[in-house]
Amino acid sequence: MRLSLRFILPLMLVLAGIAYAVAPLVDQLTLRWFVYDLDSRSSLIANTIQVPLQEQLAVDKKAKIVEFFNRLTQDERLFSVGYCASPTGKILASRSLPPEIRCAALNRWEGPGDHLLPSSQGLLHVTVQPMPSEAAPTGRLVLVHDMSFVTRRSKETKRYVFYLFMGLAVVVSLVTVIIAQLSWRGWMAGMRSLLRGEGLLRQPGVSVPPPNLPEFKPIARDLQRLIRELESDARARDEDQITWTPESLRAILQGELRGEDVIVVSNREPYIHQRRGGRIEVQRPASGLVTALEPIMRACRGTWIAHGSGSADREVVGKHDRVAVPPGNPAYQIRRVWLSAEEEAGYYYGFANEGLWPLCHIAHVRPTFRSGDWTQYVAVNHKFAQAVTSEARSKAPIVLVQDYHLALLPKMIREELPDATIITFWHIPWPNPESFAICPWRDEVLEGMLGSSILGFHTQFHCNNFVDTVDRFLEARVDRESFTVSFGGKLTAVRRYPISIAWPPEDGMLQKTVPDCRSEIRRMNDLPPEHQFGIGVDRLDYTKGIVERFRAIERLLELNPEWIGRFTFVQIAAPTRAGIEEYQHHEAQVRAMVTRINGRFERQGPPTIVLKVEHHEPHEVYEYFRAADLCFVSSLHDGMNLVAKEFVAARDDEHGVLILSQFTGAARELPEALIVNPYDADQCAAALHLALTMPATEQRDRMRLMRGLVAEFNVYRWAGRMLLDAAAMRRRSRLIGKTGRGEA
Ligand code: F6P
Repeated sequence: MRLSLRFILPLMLVLAGIAYAVAPLVDQLTLRWFVYDLDSRSSLIANTIQVPLQEQLAVDKKAKIVEFFNRLTQDERLFSVGYCASPTGKILASRSLPPEIRCAALNRWEGPGDHLLPSSQGLLHVTVQPMPSEAAPTGRLVLVHDMSFVTRRSKETKRYVFYLFMGLAVVVSLVTVIIAQLSWRGWMAGMRSLLRGEGLLRQPGVSVPPPNLPEFKPIARDLQRLIRELESDARARDEDQITWTPESLRAILQGELRGEDVIVVSNREPYIHQRRGGRIEVQRPASGLVTALEPIMRACRGTWIAHGSGSADREVVGKHDRVAVPPGNPAYQIRRVWLSAEEEAGYYYGFANEGLWPLCHIAHVRPTFRSGDWTQYVAVNHKFAQAVTSEARSKAPIVLVQDYHLALLPKMIREELPDATIITFWHIPWPNPESFAICPWRDEVLEGMLGSSILGFHTQFHCNNFVDTVDRFLEARVDRESFTVSFGGKLTAVRRYPISIAWPPEDGMLQKTVPDCRSEIRRMNDLPPEHQFGIGVDRLDYTKGIVERFRAIERLLELNPEWIGRFTFVQIAAPTRAGIEEYQHHEAQVRAMVTRINGRFERQGPPTIVLKVEHHEPHEVYEYFRAADLCFVSSLHDGMNLVAKEFVAARDDEHGVLILSQFTGAARELPEALIVNPYDADQCAAALHLALTMPATEQRDRMRLMRGLVAEFNVYRWAGRMLLDAAAMRRRSRLIGKTGRGEA
């Protein structure tokens, strides 16, 4: 529209100028034509009245002649008529003859030449015709025409000329604008698709196919170079910055993202208010997601939307279901979403945790899919989408969607807030296409996720699996060079962002010294001073390989009986998803195994395995980490596993050994750990023995390297990289938006 106005207005002005310049010429021309007309008319009148006038002159009846002249001037244009018998005589004339016209002055208008007479009555046209008679051989007839009609007509003509030019301007503008719009749209569609990296190929689902024109190529090359420079700028910033801190995150939000609000959405909330007797207690859930995102939210100070699952959650929220956290030192808001028991059963226990969870983990537990669960999953995702829309303070917020509970949310948000930057992070593994195909609603899940601007996984392997799955089941365009998926005209970047933890750890976590932690934990668990002990911290989940871990401990004692009575393993197992049958079986199996192994190796003193199925707050877990000789993470499949990184962060004394399953994302980042296959009990037993006998110097060397990595690749970097990518993406769409400006 603006482009059209920019074009039409000057064109109108130019044409109005031309009309203005042309008008006097038209005036002169019409005047000449009218004078010529009046000359002819005068001759005609003179010829017509010659005979009756000569008859009157012959009888010399002056009064009759004047009356005759007066009658003649009843003609609208004939202003006046006069007759001069001789140049010296007195003029016989009708009533209205102007005083300038006298017999002595008639030469002026005789013959060809200027016949115009400006007078007090306006412009007059005067002709003098010879009218000889016997009595007056030099007699002359004067005919005076009123020319005011010329002025009137000239005004009308000017008006018509002006209208003509304006009409012309409008027609020319419209034709030009329509042609320009058509070619501009085609051109812009081509440019946009090029900038989105779609090449010059036709893209399914896009109504305007990008034209395959060679003239696009140089412009596209320049623009793409510009975008690449902007993006590599962001990457360089990431690489240059060795220490990522809450301040670096805040700087990105204020600078690159212009202070835009951040909204996090997850099923699990970071603080749960529980009623215990007469008191309300605040609990920090055992969740890798919460461990990672909580420090981010403290730094970014946005809103975290989550399911209010605590028994006292409703009691502490304000009018809009919000509560400020952390308690005592509020930095951000939790906006709670309430779910009915039926919704929670279908969405959380059912589709998310009996369907997607085993589907993605491939830990030999069959996924269960029920249509009733799916209905609740869709409905609850809608509920979260509404919460996001109501919390968004701008049309283009940054929304961080977390995990498999909310796979449909990105598309739902995109429909309500098309300009939002939606970063979805999938905290669990993504299986290969064949495995994922089991899901009866696989297309809907994939389409939901592709509402994201950026889709993050912990490892490149999971990114590859996702892209392969999309390629196999959806009509989407997958670009393996840029790792983007174009679906329904929207582009999603699929990226690897290995999640991490806050570095340095939260205040208070390292306050108690390592020797103090050791003696405290030993005292609590009746472990003698020289007794070695290992720690495992997990939710009581079958994917964590707790059964395999205990089998490895049993094997250690079989292969190296010298450890019987000298080694204890403390397993902290946070209760989780207890409403699901598979989890109940798993807990029973774990408990039975502990009883059996403890019975088998029973001696005086502490048991082989201490199982603590109860919730522990983060500072209590850190105390165990700092006290232990080794930490054993034996997940059968895990996106990242932050317990491994937390153990490393807890050991500022540079002691302790990490045994880590090769099936965790963390194993790719921490090769200095003892990497094991949890299904191989002998190998795990050997790793346990190696850990228990590892010299302090080797422990220090390994721990130092791991601590260096976790410090550098901390959670601020994880979030920072996503936000920098989001900022680059927003710049890119602004650029595409700008090249698209000028639409009518
Ligand atoms: O591992 C996936 C995940 O969602 C984590 O992000 C989180 O640590 C854990 O599951 C928590 O599970 P839940 O919310 O069911 O207790």
